[in-house]
Amino acid sequence: MKDNNDTITSTLTEERRFAPPAAFAARAQLGDPAQAQALREAAASDPVAYWSDAARQELRWTKPFTQGLDWSRAPHAQWFADGELNVSDNCLDRHCESGRLHKAALIWEGEPVNGNEPEVRTLTYGQLRAQVQRAAQVLTRLGVQKGDRVAIYLPLIPEAAIAMLACARIGAVHSVIFGGFSAESLRDRINDAGAKLVITADGGWRRGQALRLKDVVDEALGHRTPTVTSVLVVQRTGHDVAMSAGRDHWWHEHMEASKATGTSVPVPAEHPLFILYTSGTTGKPKGILHTTGGYLTHVTRTFKQVFDIRDDDLYWCTADVGWITGHSYVVYGPLSAGATVFLYEGAPAFPDKNRFWDIIERHRISIFYTAPTALRTFMAWGEAPILKHDLSSLRLLGTVGEPINPAAWVWYHEVIGGGRCPIVDTWWQTETGGILIAPLPGVQACVPGTATLPLPGILPDIVGPDGASQPANAGGLLVLKHPWPGMARTIWGDDARFKDTYFSRVPGSYFTGDGARRDSDGNFWIMGRVDDVLNVSGHRIGTMEVESALVSHPLVAEAAVVGRPDLLTGQALVAFVTLNLGTPQHPGLAEDLRQHVSREIGALARPAEVRFAAALPKTRSGKIMRRLLRELAGQGTVSGDTSTLEDLSVLEALRTADE
Ligand code: WT7
Repeated sequence: MKDNNDTITSTLTEERRFAPPAAFAARAQLGDPAQAQALREAAASDPVAYWSDAARQELRWTKPFTQGLDWSRAPHAQWFADGELNVSDNCLDRHCESGRLHKAALIWEGEPVNGNEPEVRTLTYGQLRAQVQRAAQVLTRLGVQKGDRVAIYLPLIPEAAIAMLACARIGAVHSVIFGGFSAESLRDRINDAGAKLVITADGGWRRGQALRLKDVVDEALGHRTPTVTSVLVVQRTGHDVAMSAGRDHWWHEHMEASKATGTSVPVPAEHPLFILYTSGTTGKPKGILHTTGGYLTHVTRTFKQVFDIRDDDLYWCTADVGWITGHSYVVYGPLSAGATVFLYEGAPAFPDKNRFWDIIERHRISIFYTAPTALRTFMAWGEAPILKHDLSSLRLLGTVGEPINPAAWVWYHEVIGGGRCPIVDTWWQTETGGILIAPLPGVQACVPGTATLPLPGILPDIVGPDGASQPANAGGLLVLKHPWPGMARTIWGDDARFKDTYFSRVPGSYFTGDGARRDSDGNFWIMGRVDDVLNVSGHRIGTMEVESALVSHPLVAEAAVVGRPDLLTGQALVAFVTLNLGTPQHPGLAEDLRQHVSREIGALARPAEVRFAAALPKTRSGKIMRRLLRELAGQGTVSGDTSTLEDLSVLEALRTADE
């Protein structure tokens, strides 16, 4: 790999093709290849007409739009801008009014088992709407108005979806923060968005332990969160929590004091729906902003196409609502499509490694969508727990978050899917809002290791450093040449960074940050991030965030974090650390630093390995040469170009450095 990373060499070649099984294709919504081809061609020749039709077909508009795309303020797309609608109306009310009132919207299972059947809660579309109506009144009562930001810091319980939909119902903007983030990270995100209200729970169950979320919120709000006026607390674990008078309120008390009435507030299509923070190459996370009409069109249409959803399906996406997958393909896409969504609160190995397979068998899950990192974990556990269960209800499988290696793909296909289920490998990003590249499973062969072709109306390309389209099989930068409705509109509070990150590298195109190649059949093979962002267990982690956490430790002078390939997590974090001069390196310090990162950012960012060194390799201009550290961490030696290295002896010392 070259230093500028503009060209990437690919060594992977995969020849296996898995055509749609006849039984699947026969029942698929889109089962006619000629029809699919016609759709692709029409969409490619006029993407705005394609997406405008989709917006009219998929959604209920309180005020119809007259214009598809307005790109005059590029790179800020405006889709369907003069139309008005409400997301919660589309996800709930319209289904209640058209035959799905008594259809299950959410089927949720809690983690605890206590030797008994686990707790299961089913909410029909009618019941879910009633909850959302009440919650919308609670928000209003606590002073939340249209456009205000609400931070949601909850475990994976139905209230997470209810809170999101209640915000949408009154035009408030939610920012969901994954329950694994620390007090520090939570505070940064609350302050960046200027949240007025925080919705949390006493705790949530994970691996048999109650995660004490309210305590973390109290710590985050301990100082310097000037915009927060109230905290709403859902009772989940039932343990004691401190309630601050005047600020903290019990969710259940307010819900009881509210009525299941009231309509939603129509908002313009470009009204903000949510902010979701994701890592970038600098320390500060990016608040990705998504809006209403384009986003909902995109996730609804792609959910139906990629998952071939039917009214009798039970769909389970294992993502937490704290990530974009949880927003687009647990809550908004599936509910807007009128599907039944299964949710599970806890860990896959609780109380033992049978849990996921037991869930699939007991609930008769038909569509299962998870991440390659989870699949590698299941592979490592062996097939015994899987083979003990009847997984014949499954008809379609999916993956997201990172490239899936062909071996794991084939294992997924055979062992979980019984050789019967297509696998949709879905490529997309927090910024893209919804899936952009994935197979249409009823008409297209799946190929292990590639997300295959762009969905209709999506126009990606592979370009070289000069922005010129690359020939087949040549690696380059993955870009999008035409706006799409789900695309991010800006970075909250930092529009300059939005333009710079996504629209400056390749003029006229959206730059994804991924390297990829396109094979001679047109399939896109993702080769990884071209910058320094790491991907651990399907979550993007900025090196800078971890480095700033490390240097906040009193003994640390400097730190550089790189990824090395890891069979289980995709990438594992290796931290190279120099200590303050004169600090002796004591046993246990590496472990102290790992825990320090956990506390600062969250366990997902904890380095797998900490190496101490007297100095880090730098260029003459003082930039740490992460490329060399990556080689060192991954292969143990450095074979690449070291000509720009300032001090060669540093590298020599690092080769031998260890805990
Ligand atoms: C990055 C986006 C999309 C929701 C989860 C992650 C990588 C994602 C795939 C895939 C190869 C993938 C890319 C992308 N990625 N899906 N199917 N094949 N790589 O969202 O945190 O915004 O990360 O994840 O590198 O740019 P995210």
